[in-house]
Amino acid sequence: MALWGGRFETGPDSLFRELNDSLRFDHRLAEQDIRGSVGWARAIAGAGVLSPDELARVEAALAELAALVKADPGLPARGGDEDIHSWVERELISRVGDLGKKLHTGRSRNDQVATDLRLWTRDAIGERARELWECRRSLLGLAEREAGTVVSGYTHLQRAQPVLLAHWCLAYGEMLERDQGRFADASQRLNICPLGSGALAGTAYPVDRDALARGLGFAGPSRNSLDAVSDRDFVAEVLGACAITAVHLSRLGEDLILWGSQEFGFVEFDDAVSSGSSLMPQKKNPDAAELLRGKCGRIVGSLVAILTTLKGLPLAYNKDLQEDKEPLFDAMDHLSMCLRVVPRILDTLKVRRGACLEAAQGGYSNATDLADYLVGRGVPFREAHEQAGRAVRLGLSAGLPLEGLSIEQLRSVAPMVQADVFERLAISAGMAKREVPGGTGPHAVASALHAARTRLDASRPVG
Ligand code: ARG
Repeated sequence: MALWGGRFETGPDSLFRELNDSLRFDHRLAEQDIRGSVGWARAIAGAGVLSPDELARVEAALAELAALVKADPGLPARGGDEDIHSWVERELISRVGDLGKKLHTGRSRNDQVATDLRLWTRDAIGERARELWECRRSLLGLAEREAGTVVSGYTHLQRAQPVLLAHWCLAYGEMLERDQGRFADASQRLNICPLGSGALAGTAYPVDRDALARGLGFAGPSRNSLDAVSDRDFVAEVLGACAITAVHLSRLGEDLILWGSQEFGFVEFDDAVSSGSSLMPQKKNPDAAELLRGKCGRIVGSLVAILTTLKGLPLAYNKDLQEDKEPLFDAMDHLSMCLRVVPRILDTLKVRRGACLEAAQGGYSNATDLADYLVGRGVPFREAHEQAGRAVRLGLSAGLPLEGLSIEQLRSVAPMVQADVFERLAISAGMAKREVPGGTGPHAVASALHAARTRLDASRPVG
């Protein structure tokens, strides 16, 4: 059953239907379409279009439909209808007869689909928030398990200064916490109800839009009907949040891939999140982490797709807007998979503390500490930097770390050096100097970890 046709002499061409029909993907909105339909039935009953008895029959039939979909989510997809709205209406009519034909009074698929998609996105955000929270928890768990582990920190992927592994965990924790905040912001902004906007000009029936909106859990009704039926900012915004999250997971994946390589050897992935090679028997590949990195491409692609679709659309609804769903669904599905895999990777990650420490001790990562030591002896920093650089050059030609040079050798390039310099070149001394809030000093990290735990506990998503 098509929802239109009176004006047409012939039916649609089959290729056109293939292009035009959206049930193949929008069947996923069945639950939201039924929820929205219950809301609308109540609204038009309030406006006198349905009698209380009619409303009760429509609601009962919609509840039955909702139960069927819950038991068999694939059911609507097999319907052969143009879209999910057509499916729900046809199923309703098949249950309550002509009464079902009253439901669409004063409603358009334009305000309907905009409402459905907001409901769906709100639900999906709730799930992503829970998954992000679990990732944050796993990062903190790793930080706590590896509280004393020192690892080399990098800039330009060159050994730079030692950091605590927990500090690295907290860095990703910061990113994911911001991501959770972005989803929460987007959820708040999208939480308005387009129903009552009609096709574009507002419904002609005196429905109580405030009550309708609140009944569906929205903060209130949309303010402008032209905007409400054509606005997909919320899709772009949520895909923006998805894309940024995916970028963060990609960077996490990349760090772990590097760390897991034989060249670094800092970590080993559990067999359960690794795969082998069909040819090389010895291989154990970090596919899970690689897909954290790889999935980012399609998720960013979804953001670009919706922005490009929206660009240049005249007001109000245009069929182009039907292209909003697949990128959103795809990005959400794949981001969800990635977010759910992160705890599996982190919770089973084996950290090779010796290799981490060895890397932190190598590469002259304490050269800054030598410069700082000289500053303490009254040498201006720029000069201290120069002298420490010369000490590194000396070490390189002697094949020794800074602390392996004799005091005479050190003095030959940095005359202010005293015997106490060697204490300052120890890794623990360098770390202890970085107790500034936000730094990698052990106390600073311990209190950051404590604060992060507190924020985690306070931000557990409900449900
Ligand atoms: N399947 C359509 C979509 O996703 C529903 C709205 C159709 N509206 C219309 N005027 N043809 O956008």
